[in-house]
Amino acid sequence: MTLRLQTPTADARAQDPALWWRHAAVYEVYPRSFADGNGDGIGDLAGVRAHLDYLQQLGIDAIWFTPWYASPLADGGYDVADYREIHPSFGTLSDAEELIREAAARGIRTIIDIVPNHISSLHPWFQEALAAPAGSAARERFWFRPGKGENGEEMPTRWPNNFAGDSWTRTVNPDGTPGEWYLHLFAPEQPDLNWNHPDVRAEFESVLRFWFDRGVAGIRIDSAALLVKDPQLPEIPQDPAPGQHPNLDRDELHDIYRSWRRIADEYSARDGQQRILVGEVWLADIQRFAMFLRSDEMHTAFNFDFMTRPWDASELRASIQETLDVHAQVGAPPTWVLSNHDVTRPVTRLGRADTAFAFQRKRFDTPVDLELGSRRARAAAVLAATLPGVMYLYQGEELGLPEVEDIPLDRLDDPMHFRSGGTDPGRDGCRVPLPWTAEGASFGFSPAGASEPWLPQPEGWGGYSIERAQQDPESTLALYRRLLAARRELADEPFEWLASSADTIAYRRGRTTVLVNFSAESIPLPEGEIVAVSSRLAGRCLPPDAAVWLTAPEATAPQAGISPLPTSLSTKL
Ligand code: GLC
Ligand code: CA
Repeated sequence: MTLRLQTPTADARAQDPALWWRHAAVYEVYPRSFADGNGDGIGDLAGVRAHLDYLQQLGIDAIWFTPWYASPLADGGYDVADYREIHPSFGTLSDAEELIREAAARGIRTIIDIVPNHISSLHPWFQEALAAPAGSAARERFWFRPGKGENGEEMPTRWPNNFAGDSWTRTVNPDGTPGEWYLHLFAPEQPDLNWNHPDVRAEFESVLRFWFDRGVAGIRIDSAALLVKDPQLPEIPQDPAPGQHPNLDRDELHDIYRSWRRIADEYSARDGQQRILVGEVWLADIQRFAMFLRSDEMHTAFNFDFMTRPWDASELRASIQETLDVHAQVGAPPTWVLSNHDVTRPVTRLGRADTAFAFQRKRFDTPVDLELGSRRARAAAVLAATLPGVMYLYQGEELGLPEVEDIPLDRLDDPMHFRSGGTDPGRDGCRVPLPWTAEGASFGFSPAGASEPWLPQPEGWGGYSIERAQQDPESTLALYRRLLAARRELADEPFEWLASSADTIAYRRGRTTVLVNFSAESIPLPEGEIVAVSSRLAGRCLPPDAAVWLTAPEATAPQAGISPLPTSLSTKL
């Protein structure tokens, strides 16, 4: 496989604001749960606008908004009915334009979420297709097929569904008889689009332009490895050859992203500010993943390998090394992700016996030690902030919010829960409305006297509030602010592993040394001035499950107890 290089890795690049995206800190906003401006219990754009101060003080470079479009919200907005309209609960298109402008005025760029694999079943295209007869042109934008079996009663394929359950739903003809089936790799309310159809390609290119014209700096591409299907719709072979799986990571995808990159580049060329594509690319094969980051495709993609590994020095060291290696091959900046709106909050995940993340393994009533999880999550933040590349953080991560695991069953909203037959708790636990104040009916999420929040907040939620965190110099918020401010200095520094014991991770970036202790014992600190530390130190010792960021007095001074690895083992970016 030949991998072409992105922008050369010249050290001068961090000085260039056009290349902001190579080392940005990006904050994910789930608009429904960030802040409610108008008091209906649902977060909205007015709520975000009212809290831009907070985001600016946190020190982020960009906001990624999960879908804010008109949608029946069958999957929290990832079922888009109109890609050019804002959901009325969130505000209007002009609110979005205002928000993009106001954020930009504070140096915060906007990344929006585009969902190209599927649309809402209420989107006019799908409604038109349903009303049209089998074999009609309107159905060709989707995957309508007759069923197998004598009366078409069997699904066209047995492809698994990303939310459990079936991947096909049978339609009903106008006379009430059963009709064709349509494909949905997620919920039935999210029919998959046919990316071989020119209308589909043209429509999304037009949607990209629509939002670039409104000042957005980037596009997050939802389910980016799923769009293309083998039109023969075969069953999934046991061990598909790379690029040959019938609905995942097909080679034809690259063409689509090349055309999107051309559009982004066209806008970038106008003012020299890069418009970027960031892909949600869940792939086990990291080499295949890197192919999406070639110089004429996406700029970056989320690093789910890092996000899902267990809390273990050798696992994380391996993930970091592989990440640096494959990104270096294509010259793309790595991303470091600890969580998002789909996965268990790190404080909870890292406090369990099994600290890895896997959708399939989520269950109710899994014991957790939140105090331990919180220590580790803070240490993980030091890692994510000091590794070379882009850092992503999900709203509430900076407050150390745990997963809410006792939402009353009748208040759960996520199709992942319902489609699992109730065994999977779903993703609502990381989507609970943020606590802004220590007290009050919704802990400041809504104005006083408002309706109840759309998802209930647990008792004691105010203890995690922004108000509390702002008063506490040792809060997770204070740590994140420190990290986000200090990491700006690191943008250009080369990365080098330092030799350290098996249950620690140590590396250097210029004068910065980072040491993470995964062992059960405290370990002596290397020399240097402390820039940030995730737990209170015991003398000059780093306690277990903690990380420290130090600045050495001299760039080349050898560190006590830690020596650089031979260059053959170290990666320079
Ligand atoms: C992505 C989103 C997730 C959504 C799914 C289907 O994985 O992050 O929230 O449910 O795509 O659009
Ligand atoms: Ca509202």
